[in-house]
Amino acid sequence: MSQNMNGKVAIVTGGSSGIGRACAIEFAKAGAKVVVAARREAEGEETVSQIEAAGSQGIFVKTDVTVTDQIENLVNKTLETYNRLDYACNNAGFGKSIPLLERSESEWDA
Ligand SMILES: NC(=O)c1ccc[n+]([C@@H]2O[C@H](COP(=O)([O-])OP(=O)(O)OC[C@H]3O[C@@H](n4cnc5c(N)ncnc54)[C@H](OP(=O)(O)O)[C@@H]3O)[C@@H](O)[C@H]2O)c1
Repeated sequence: MSQNMNGKVAIVTGGSSGIGRACAIEFAKAGAKVVVAARREAEGEETVSQIEAAGSQGIFVKTDVTVTDQIENLVNKTLETYNRLDYACNNAGFGKSIPLLERSESEWDA
């Protein structure tokens, strides 16, 4: 990421692993502070450690993105901590890459 994000603040959902963790670290390298949101605490805190190692700051906010109250809490904690929100990387997700019509109703709802 070549963009200068100094002073900006990003939320990355699903930041506890995989693509989300990689995005969080790239935001950090570009200068943004990063709010990591996911359900697994140890993995989320590990991403924050990697954000700090990349030279920026971050916090982990335990969040299940299927629960509205927890999303509101995520945004409120972000604003309380950093007083702004510039980017939302809405990456949290799950499941195999299969055709839509092969998904169960419960998978679709989730
Ligand atoms: N890898 C691929 O080839 C590929 C291809 C197309 C699309 N995608 C999509 O890209 C995204 C990331 O994929 P990935 O390969 O990095 O998968 P991953 O390593 O399994 O990461 C999924 C992330 O989503 C989080 N998550 C899942 N359900 C959540 C929930 N209810 N609330 C909050 N966080 C939740 C997980 O964190 P916790 O478990 O800690 O909550 C985890 O950090 C997914 O949306 C995936 O469907 C991936």
